Amino acid sequence: MSKKLRDVTISERPNLLGINSTDQAALQTGLSLDMADHMIENAISTFALPMGVAENFVINGRTVPIPMVVEEPSVVAACGFAAKLVRGGGGFTASSTEPIMIGQIQVLDLADLAAATANIQQASPHLLNWLNTQNPSTISKHAKAIDLEIRHIPIHTAQPSAPTPQFLIVHVLYHCGDAMGANLINTACEALAPKIEQLTGGRVNLRILSNLNDRRMASATCNVPITALTTLQMDGLTLAHRIVEASLFAENDPYRATTHNKGVMNGIDAVVLATGNDWRAVEAAAHAYAARNGQYASMTRWRISADQTVLHGEINLPMAVGIVGGATRVHPSAQVALRLMGVHTARELAEVIVCVGLAQNLAAIRALAAEGIQRGHMSLHARQVAIAAGASGANIDRIAEQLIAEKQVRLERAQTLLANLAFKMQN
Ligand code: MEV
Repeated sequence: MSKKLRDVTISERPNLLGINSTDQAALQTGLSLDMADHMIENAISTFALPMGVAENFVINGRTVPIPMVVEEPSVVAACGFAAKLVRGGGGFTASSTEPIMIGQIQVLDLADLAAATANIQQASPHLLNWLNTQNPSTISKHAKAIDLEIRHIPIHTAQPSAPTPQFLIVHVLYHCGDAMGANLINTACEALAPKIEQLTGGRVNLRILSNLNDRRMASATCNVPITALTTLQMDGLTLAHRIVEASLFAENDPYRATTHNKGVMNGIDAVVLATGNDWRAVEAAAHAYAARNGQYASMTRWRISADQTVLHGEINLPMAVGIVGGATRVHPSAQVALRLMGVHTARELAEVIVCVGLAQNLAAIRALAAEGIQRGHMSLHARQVAIAAGASGANIDRIAEQLIAEKQVRLERAQTLLANLAFKMQN
């Protein structure tokens, strides 16, 4: 049987994953101070987090090691465990839409809303052509303006007697190729704004992308064999029913949905971070989309098949991630992360990310519906406490096991145990 990552030391894992020596060196070096200084203002340092790799992912028939940057113990292991359950049912099936983002231009002070709307609609082919072929600041090999849409937004003012003003909002639809696209779209919205003012006689205020990128979606489904869910304490079908009950809870209660979705984002954010993408954008979109029907609800859904042989899971989320530009291009570890997964397009990356979200959610609600999550959490927490107390090497596990056995996972106790160990070694 081939070795698992947990069977070897941290320094042996890159070799086991087949990461070449250049990429291993890049992982070691990470982000240089010079790069950091060019990335943000007033940089004083870089800030490291662990990068782990979740195993067992099969996505659209391909085995994909998943790089995850996360500070929370058990996320990586849980994710790999869930992916193994899913692999037993053939792995994840993932798909995505074209990577279309929305830019917004806010137009106010219009004398004639209908005429302004008609003028923009009429000029739309010309404006798109201008953006794509004539305006140097918006001609891009990654992005292409594909459509203009117009929305009228009634504004509810504080004064009931005042006539309700309406904003005219131009949506600039952009195909972003392999870029996340924020800069491309913002540039285009700013370039287009004076032309929109001319056409409408109105005044433009904001010109910015919308992070509710619901035209850029990624979806995944999976079928876990019910038999694979069997534990020592519970048969697979009982556990599957409990998982469905957990899903229904999150589908119907925003308090539970928030925690459920936090679990989904544990996986999603970790890959978004590992690839140098904008996790705030991904978070904002995912949560806004989860509230699209007027009540915040779960991002995933789990059901048992009619023949009761599989537990079916699904996820469908906006996913604005890129593989070119920004920190993804600059950060050496992000480049290695992309190569490790073997993704070659932004869409492929988005598809991988939603699979990880679905797996992470399965891991969490499976554990919650079975043994609870504290047992697994406590052993990893105990290791962290042991490390914080100064333990290293084999002593980490020794101290952690003792802390758990005594049910006293506390720093002072770990320090005492470590001091006792050191004393024994000396005598
Ligand atoms: C903890 O980081 C995430 C969970 O709370 C998610 C959930 O409750 O589904 C375990």
